[in-house]
Amino acid sequence: MSNDKVGAELKIGIVGAGQMGGGIAQVAATSGFSVVLADISLDAAQKGLAAIQKRLDSQVSRGKLQADDAAAISQRISAVGELEQLADCQLVIEAASERVDLKLELFRKLDGICHEDAILASNTSSISITTIAAVTRRPQQVIGMHFFNPVPAMKLVEVIGGLATSDDTFSKVIALAEQLGKSPVKCQDKAGFVVNRILLPMLNEACFVLEEGVASAKDIDTAMTLGCAHPMGPLTLADFIGLDTCLAIMEVLHRDLGDDKYRPAPLLRKYVAAGWLGKKSGRGFFSYE
Ligand code: CAA
Repeated sequence: MSNDKVGAELKIGIVGAGQMGGGIAQVAATSGFSVVLADISLDAAQKGLAAIQKRLDSQVSRGKLQADDAAAISQRISAVGELEQLADCQLVIEAASERVDLKLELFRKLDGICHEDAILASNTSSISITTIAAVTRRPQQVIGMHFFNPVPAMKLVEVIGGLATSDDTFSKVIALAEQLGKSPVKCQDKAGFVVNRILLPMLNEACFVLEEGVASAKDIDTAMTLGCAHPMGPLTLADFIGLDTCLAIMEVLHRDLGDDKYRPAPLLRKYVAAGWLGKKSGRGFFSYE
């Protein structure tokens, strides 16, 4: 990106058309940017685009969006099945699964595909930006841009610098987050950044409370929604995030910060082992069939 302030002419690439990538694509296109939405196959990318269109249609039917604005937003998004089609994007946001091997491979490839000026951002919730940046030849232009689920509704973006991230990259990405209607918060590259470092131990503790039989799943959630005014109870929120993602984040916190307070709850491990991953698999602490 050559300009100091990013403009609406910016073309944004997004890798991963799932819950997070699709949400980021929707927000970027709604803010007027051209978006190239990539996934491992054209079919997967098109499914992501169809989910965005469904959400936009729901806004139209509730009178929150004009039908022609919804059409214009989805026309700004092109679904692609190959990373090479991100070659002319000035900024790429990777929102693939939370696996370090996958992310390193993607960044190695993106570094070879994208223009040398392009910024490469990761939506990682727990993997070190310094580690991701180190596989590229442009660590000064690698940064974390951590969005929250559901992306269209949540106002925060954590902006995380790796050891080599330049001030110029920081200021461009902060400006972009603001153009997306978000409030950016600058964070150090330390496990869990700010939100997950605080939130995930609470969700993990709810798993321990359930496992110890202190209260039922429903009552734990009622207690936290009514007792703390949280919009969702911790077990519903864990189901919504994905129990595999929750476990992966707890494992990173436990490994990198060392303290026993980050030990993943055995019940959480058991649910993930059973394939009970929360809302996306139809069953977690609650049932979604
Ligand atoms: N995808 C996209 N948008 C969604 C959505 C979804 N799955 N669910 C809700 N929304 C949008 C709705 O479309 C609506 O916006 P519009 O009216 O403009 O369309 C808005 O959110 C509010 O939705 P509703 O009025 O239907 O529902 P609500 O008032 O019950 O709020 C909620 C729903 C926003 C999800 C609310 O329950 C909430 O804030 N929950 C907590 C979410 C949270 O804590 N997220 C952070 C998770 S941690 C994380 O993401 C980081 C990580 O790395 C794990």
